[in-house]
Amino acid sequence: MNAVEIRNLSKNFGSKQAVCGLNMTVPMGAIYGFIGENGSGKSTTEKMICGLIPTGGGSIKLYGKDYTDGDVRAKVGVLIEAPGCFKGLSVWDNMMLQATNLNIPDAEKEVVKVLKMVRMEGAAGNKFKNCSLGMKQRVGIAMALLGNPTLLVLDEPLNGLDADGMRIMREVFTDIVKDGKRSIVVSSHLLGELQKVATHYGIIRHGKMIKEMTADELDTSCRTYVAIQTADMNRAKSLLGCKYSRVEEDEAGYIRVYDMTTPEEIVAYLYENGICVTEIMTDKIGLEEYYIDLMKEGN
Ligand SMILES: Nc1ncnc2c1ncn2[C@@H]1O[C@H](COP(=O)(O)OP(=O)(O)OP(=O)(O)O)[C@@H](O)[C@H]1O
Ligand SMILES: [Mg+2]
Repeated sequence: MNAVEIRNLSKNFGSKQAVCGLNMTVPMGAIYGFIGENGSGKSTTEKMICGLIPTGGGSIKLYGKDYTDGDVRAKVGVLIEAPGCFKGLSVWDNMMLQATNLNIPDAEKEVVKVLKMVRMEGAAGNKFKNCSLGMKQRVGIAMALLGNPTLLVLDEPLNGLDADGMRIMREVFTDIVKDGKRSIVVSSHLLGELQKVATHYGIIRHGKMIKEMTADELDTSCRTYVAIQTADMNRAKSLLGCKYSRVEEDEAGYIRVYDMTTPEEIVAYLYENGICVTEIMTDKIGLEEYYIDLMKEGN
């Protein structure tokens, strides 16, 4: 059974179609990276999944039941925009307040558990206003985890985090889903970071899902290439352009050959033409380049 199954979902704001005919499938245990340009409808979709705004048509099923069903509603934890915390109160007091509002039984034990899950057990006494951005985001996730939800919906939780904050967040995500019972839908523009942790992807454009795939499918569909540096880049580029059909210079100044070939073949070919290769490697394009390519295709 899937954690989320959306069919033909729509939402208009006045004459603006924010989401139109969107399909989405989030399997249990997935970290589902939800990607799309600004204004493509990610937050609107997430808000509908969480029941924060009404849908304008179509169906949302959570664990096989309609999303309005009380039992499944209780299984959804949400962090959209900043966590609703009192700045002057400690992390602990904020958490206890939220736990009490939600009538969580055995609140203290539950708060200890969720703070541990987000690596905040050592900072529970900090005032919320003195927490770093990364810590604040993790408090938000801890709040979303209260009540033991099995689906977490997180809107751009990686924004503004430093390298260490990103690493901790990745660990937190992986921990949350590790027993296969919970799933996370996480929207982000930080594709490189998302790729380090997501197991599934959904790419949305103009309110429509244009691609869904697993991390493995991304891996196999990402083109491999040979990248080189030579002493004479211009000549090397034009020579390679004569022999191969897809030759491009990347941002780091390497020439990339995407055709089926080998580093040996390229080195030999350039050597025969009097060009010495100074550096060579094979690699695959990542999520970011895959996404840019997909957008260029104008889907
Ligand atoms: N409450 C609202 N009233 C009117 N228009 C809205 C409202 N919320 C969203 N929209 C519009 O719906 C479209 C989708 O917005 P949404 O916030 O879902 O995009 P997004 O993919 O989350 O973008 P971003 O990456 O910038 O967060 C946008 O054109 C936006 O302006
Ligand atoms: Mg958004």
